[in-house]
Amino acid sequence: MRPKVDAAWHLHELTRGLDLASFILFSSIAGVTGNAGQASYAAANTFLDVLAAYRRREGLPGVSLAWGPWEGGMAGGLTDADWQRMARQGLRPLSGPEGLELLDAAAGAADPLLVAARLDLAALRRSGEVPPLLSALVQAGRSNAPARRTVGDPATGGDNALVARLAALGPAEQQEILQDLVMEQAALVLGMSGPGVIDAGRTFRDVGFDSLTAVELRNRLSSATGLRLPATAVFDYPTPTALTELLAQEMLGSAREETTALSAYSGLDKLEASITEIIGDDTARTRVTARLKDILSLLNDAGEPNEVGEDGGSVADRIQSASDDDMFDFIDNQLGI
Ligand SMILES: NC(=O)c1ccc[n+]([C@@H]2O[C@H](COP(=O)([O-])OP(=O)(O)OC[C@H]3O[C@@H](n4cnc5c(N)ncnc54)[C@H](OP(=O)(O)O)[C@@H]3O)[C@@H](O)[C@H]2O)c1
Repeated sequence: MRPKVDAAWHLHELTRGLDLASFILFSSIAGVTGNAGQASYAAANTFLDVLAAYRRREGLPGVSLAWGPWEGGMAGGLTDADWQRMARQGLRPLSGPEGLELLDAAAGAADPLLVAARLDLAALRRSGEVPPLLSALVQAGRSNAPARRTVGDPATGGDNALVARLAALGPAEQQEILQDLVMEQAALVLGMSGPGVIDAGRTFRDVGFDSLTAVELRNRLSSATGLRLPATAVFDYPTPTALTELLAQEMLGSAREETTALSAYSGLDKLEASITEIIGDDTARTRVTARLKDILSLLNDAGEPNEVGEDGGSVADRIQSASDDDMFDFIDNQLGI
């Protein structure tokens, strides 16, 4: 941040009294739209944009060019994965001649801030993460062809559909779907061909994730699941397996609790139904009645200290929080079934 802000401000002050034909600042689209992992860089570039506007107000020349990436220069050190990440964000590199043409065109521009970038609007739309400042542009460039969407595609939006789909499945299938989602998105972020290329037990770091790609994966998973995941999720839960477990916990935790409570009640329903079947059998009825009295007195004792037990849970709470296995074990033991 400092080299850009200080240098620009020094130039502004040192040239203030000179009769300049132009004062052109090289800023970046990172300041206009924001970019993962580039907070300070983005802020520095926005300072340049504002400096150009400030100079215009002072009657001085000034234009800030917010460049998209070029083929050379500081972008020359970017890896293939970096370029693929930018391509998914709809940013294509400018060639040298294109950059020079844009520079010429900008010199006489009326606006103090111009974005000079090659945008791939279709890719930007597919990314599902259109920066607000570009949304009108993406709308205007919308073609009639529907965007390709997959289950894990963040373009499908913060996904209540995914939650609903998971709710209808057993734990093993839920786990499988979430793991596929994590693997699919991780492979996509790394520019790999499919989810199968990543080993679920290997750390994200080992397969090539850095802070930028980690944030991108977090963003994609947040969009696909509707969860607010921490920016460090990919490092705190360092393998696809661990991250899948986090998603399962966050998405299905309360649903799992609800299922348990419902199972407990359904256990009572089954008990009631089986009692009506033995109602005509005197011996069985006497035995069951004795057992039920035992159960009731156990429940009463458990609620005894005060209606709310010492562990903070009332009898009703304990029944609600018991798993169905607990309930059936309890019933089996008490009835001697
Ligand atoms: N390349 C892109 O894709 C791109 C995209 C958007 C915006 N921009 C902006 O365009 C400008 C030029 O980018 P570039 O790609 O041409 O960069 P570059 O090739 O890396 O050149 C950067 C220049 O800045 C100098 N510099 C770096 N750190 C400095 C510091 N702390 N103090 C003083 N000078 C320093 C370097 O000096 P030395 O040669 O002595 O190291 C070099 O001359 C930058 O402001 C950049 O933010 C570039």
